[in-house]
Amino acid sequence: MKKRILVVSSANMDLLLNMNRVPGAGETIKDNGKYSYMPGGKGANAAITIAKLGGDCVFCARLGDDANASLLKKFYTDNKIDTRFIKSDSSAQTGLAVVMVESSAANRIVAYPGANANLCSDDVEEAFMCYPDALYLNFEIPFESIVTACSYAKKQNIPIIIDGGPANTNTRFDLLGEIEIFSPNEVETYKYTGISPTNMENCLRAASALYKKMKVKYIVIKLGERGCFIYDGIHYNVCASYETDVIDTTGAGDAFTGAMTLKYLQSGDIINACKYANAVGAIVVSRPGASSGIPTSEEVGEFIKSRELV
Ligand code: RIB
Repeated sequence: MKKRILVVSSANMDLLLNMNRVPGAGETIKDNGKYSYMPGGKGANAAITIAKLGGDCVFCARLGDDANASLLKKFYTDNKIDTRFIKSDSSAQTGLAVVMVESSAANRIVAYPGANANLCSDDVEEAFMCYPDALYLNFEIPFESIVTACSYAKKQNIPIIIDGGPANTNTRFDLLGEIEIFSPNEVETYKYTGISPTNMENCLRAASALYKKMKVKYIVIKLGERGCFIYDGIHYNVCASYETDVIDTTGAGDAFTGAMTLKYLQSGDIINACKYANAVGAIVVSRPGASSGIPTSEEVGEFIKSRELV
C-alpha cells in the first residue's frame, strides 16, 4: 500500500523573471527575456514532486481568496495532490515570490508570505485526521505550527522529514522532538552552523554540528552540483550528482527533499533515496521554473537509465 505523506507547508505563486543580469540600485534595464507565472513555494514544490512521482500526498496549506489561489488549487488537483486541507483565507493574499534568474542560472528570490503566515495549529490538527504515514516540513510557515505538527507526528508515531529552508539562526530544534531526516542546502548549513560545507572535512564538521543541535537520525546536506552528503552520527556517505545543463536551479532543492522523502519511505534506504533524489534534482535544474520542471517517475527512470548507458 502507498505511504501517505502529509506536507504541512507553504504555497506561492512565483513570478519568474528571466534576465541577463539583475539591475543595480537606481538602475533601469530593459531585457528581451521572458517573464511567467508558475506555481511555487517550498512546500508546494515538494508536494508536487511527491505526487508526480506517484506518492500519496496530502497538502496542508493556506491560500488567499484570489485568482492566484484558484490557479494554484487547480494545478495541485491536476497533479493529484489531496487538497482537502488547503484553507482559503479571505484576510490575506496568496503568497507570492519574485524569482529573478540570470542567464548564468543564478537566482534571487523575494517572497511575500501572505496567507502562508496564517497557517495555524488548528489547520495542522485538522490535517492530521488524514492519518499520514510521514510528515514533511520546512520553515516557510509559522514556527508554532511546525511545533504542533511535530507533536502530532509524535503522537501518531510517524517519521518527520524536515527541509532546512529557509534557515533561521534562532531555530529552536529542541522543540521539534525526534526527526528522521534533516536536509539543509549549503547556505542554510552555513547559517545553522557557521561552517560552509565547501569540502568533505567541512561537510563532516557541519553535519556533526547539526547532529548535536537536534535529535535526528540522518543529516543530508544538499551540495548542488556536488551531490549530497549523508551523515548518521557515525558514518558518512557522499552521493555524486548527475551532470546536466543548468538552466534554472529554482525549486531543485525542494524537489530533491520531496523525492528523497518518498523513496526513503518506500525503501527504508537513505543512500538509494538520495541517489534517486539527485536524479530528480538534475532534471529540475535543466528546466525553467520550480514546480513546472518536476518530472514524473517514468521520466526519472528514463533519465537514470540513459546515464547508466553512458
Ligand atoms: O525554493 C524555491 C521556492 O522558494 C520558490 O518556488 C519560491 O516560491 C520560494 O518559496
